[in-house]
Amino acid sequence: MATPESPQGFPYGVEVEEGKTYLWCSCGKSAKQPFCDAAHKGTEFVPIKYTAEASKRVSFCGCKHSKKGAVCDGSHNRI
Ligand code: FES
Repeated sequence: MATPESPQGFPYGVEVEEGKTYLWCSCGKSAKQPFCDAAHKGTEFVPIKYTAEASKRVSFCGCKHSKKGAVCDGSHNRI
């Protein structure tokens, strides 16, 4: 299994809107972090869909090693 790039070693804080869907970059190559810009094409990675249940600030994973997918789970402290 390929290893994703880690654009940064800490999360991206983003204000999300209730009901809106976001595509989180899982490959780490997107220039629009933490979201997908289709840079994964040709790799085995695909973006992960995140639908906001409420309007709030979300910590999206920036290291690309979170076990919770798009959302930071603190894994960046262990890499
Ligand atoms: S930034 Fe990836 S787990 Fe926190």
